[in-house]
Amino acid sequence: MIRRNTFIFLLALGISTAAYSQTQDIDRKVEALLQKMTLEEKVGQLNQYTGDWEVTGPVTNSGNKVEDVKKGKIGSMLNVRGVKHTRELQQAAMQSRLKIPLLFGQDVIHGYRVTFPIPLAEAASWDLEAIEKSARIAATEAASSGIHWTFAPMVDIARDPRWGRVMEGAGEDTYLGSLIAKARVKGFQGKGLGNTNAVMACAKHFAAYGAAIGGRDYNSVDMSLRTLWEVYLPPFKAALDAGAATFMNSFNDINGIPATGNSYIQRDILKGKWGFKGFVVSDWGSIGEMIQHGYVKDNYEAAEAAITAGSDMDMESRSYINHLVKLVGEGKVKQELIDDAVRRILRKKFELGLFDDPYRFSNEKREKKTLNKPEFLQAARDVAKRSIVLLKNEGSVLPLSKDLKSVALIGPLVKAEKDMQGFWSIDWGKEDHLVSLYEGMQNQAGKTKLLYAKGCHVQDTSRAGFAEAVSTAKEADVVVMAMGEKFDMSGEAKSRSNIHLPGIQEELIKAIQATGKPVVVLLMAGRPMVFNWTADHVPAILYTWWLGSQAGNAIADVLYGNYNPSAKLPMTFPRSEGQIPIYYNYLNTGRPAKDDTDMNYRSGYIDMQKSPKYAFGYGLSYTTFSYSNLKLSQKQMGKNDSISISFTLTNSGKLAGEEVAQLYLRDVVAKPVRPVKELKAFKKVMLQPGESRTISFTIDKESLSFYNDNLEKITQAGEFEVMIGGSSDAIKLDDKFDLVD
Ligand code: GLC
Repeated sequence: MIRRNTFIFLLALGISTAAYSQTQDIDRKVEALLQKMTLEEKVGQLNQYTGDWEVTGPVTNSGNKVEDVKKGKIGSMLNVRGVKHTRELQQAAMQSRLKIPLLFGQDVIHGYRVTFPIPLAEAASWDLEAIEKSARIAATEAASSGIHWTFAPMVDIARDPRWGRVMEGAGEDTYLGSLIAKARVKGFQGKGLGNTNAVMACAKHFAAYGAAIGGRDYNSVDMSLRTLWEVYLPPFKAALDAGAATFMNSFNDINGIPATGNSYIQRDILKGKWGFKGFVVSDWGSIGEMIQHGYVKDNYEAAEAAITAGSDMDMESRSYINHLVKLVGEGKVKQELIDDAVRRILRKKFELGLFDDPYRFSNEKREKKTLNKPEFLQAARDVAKRSIVLLKNEGSVLPLSKDLKSVALIGPLVKAEKDMQGFWSIDWGKEDHLVSLYEGMQNQAGKTKLLYAKGCHVQDTSRAGFAEAVSTAKEADVVVMAMGEKFDMSGEAKSRSNIHLPGIQEELIKAIQATGKPVVVLLMAGRPMVFNWTADHVPAILYTWWLGSQAGNAIADVLYGNYNPSAKLPMTFPRSEGQIPIYYNYLNTGRPAKDDTDMNYRSGYIDMQKSPKYAFGYGLSYTTFSYSNLKLSQKQMGKNDSISISFTLTNSGKLAGEEVAQLYLRDVVAKPVRPVKELKAFKKVMLQPGESRTISFTIDKESLSFYNDNLEKITQAGEFEVMIGGSSDAIKLDDKFDLVD
């Protein structure tokens, strides 16, 4: 045993020594190169321009980018797609005086060639392995296509479904969001930079972009520093701890200071307290947008504010390339600030191996054999079916029987393909093969006859298709409706004040429900929507988000029961926009309503229930689960102790299925007060019918800690409630313990 441990120790020592010496070696090379660079060449490394393959921001054309590359005026490009084009631009960079290679970045948010479910959908799977695998495949494809760097994961906590970019993140919960941030960074960076199937991750948008007031994109963020540290920063720290190579700042101001000019978050926290050694890229034009914010007078001042605050690379604002040399010359910006930013960027270029071989990611043969591999499509289908949330299944309308004579497919998204990809997907045009619901059903319906009627459009108010839809429904045994948003109704700059099902879609659902046929409604969207009538009257509802290339196959897998749905909502679904912001981990207030009927001087509304339509963590299965036998290893916990919490989970139904068992804690008395519950652990467990399993969680001091007003992470002695269940609003087991000093 001793020999084995010694071997492991020496191996670990050897690895860390090798890593240390590699870092030392790279630092030496960076310093040597830095010495050779002129100030203009250094500033060139801080400058990033967009290519023209994808438009992901307000493009302002300027000059001849290839010539600028040859002159060393550009250090990175984004939105340059494919080996051919990246190679051409890299060849231009090799004509510059010092032959410093370009970095190529791209928004590979949920897949590159194979589109995976949108990140919010994947978050609903609560399946960290599947999420990591999705990022791993995206990175493998992107890296084979000349991309060094993805502008992902987006780790913004979001409690406002009016904000279009909720589709891009992991929802409202800090604990779940932090675990998903880690999984995505590990997926993108794989076995480490330098591998030709690994890309740099980029934790974004730093910081608190998801708290934009009113859910209006780019809007101000106003919050206490305690809330910033408690709710919005932890997923960024998780991404950094997972090794995220880069960060991207955000468009919003935080309490009046734009993130890109915010020394507190970029220098004090990120590069100071957290010791971040990578680099920060500004979001598209955010440096220049400090003029619109009213924070600076012009791009000259913007460049000074941003470099001083720790923004290393300037995406598309041209403030750095046009003003930094002058700012140094006029003594406004110290040379060492520029050098620090350049070091951070050059270090990553060395780590990626680009100085050894600038074309190592631009291999046409590898690109051709990597993109769209069958196993990647299978993985996309697998995580897609795991992301589908069963909201309702009255009368066991689902799963569909293969013996049905006919199924009517009705709705504006039945044959939709592009809409299944969702926002932040890459448009491959006719090369693309996206499986619509219609095609997915054709693949699995067997002898069942499929009928079809569109019924209405996504957004307009024409009822011209209703009659045909109703008559089609009347001919069928069961109706499956595909309703929801178009791919560009959630995403960047896509905030909606009204998040109801768009157009007159719910009118169509009513008309079809009135036929008396069993109806299944599929809701396809990039955000939580409001659909109260449907929720209250239709017997079966699946929330299928935007599931990517294999959407139709994954939905058919669930409809026919080839996969028993297991997903849980990563965001609260409101009954109306009037309830927003609404989230599960709220504070109790001095007048908590006992339930939705308690309105006597209670916190709530006089015209609507206080509870949401669907709670965080909610999701059904084709089987049922029971919880029993809760045990705590002790009822008192010292500050350096831990408590083991165990219970029995049983599949009490007739079908095999997975349950996400969730553990919530409440710190009953604390200063400042703590939420009524907070997710602290979960496990996704597959159980056969009748099978029981003992599930265990360990609670330690970290699980009980929170920030006080001095921003110190503390714990306070007192009573804690333990709550366990399959949803934040369906607690099946509870108990208490005391934390003692
Ligand atoms: C966009 C987005 C950001 C993206 C960047 C590059 O404006 O805010 O998430 O990575 O520009 O496309």
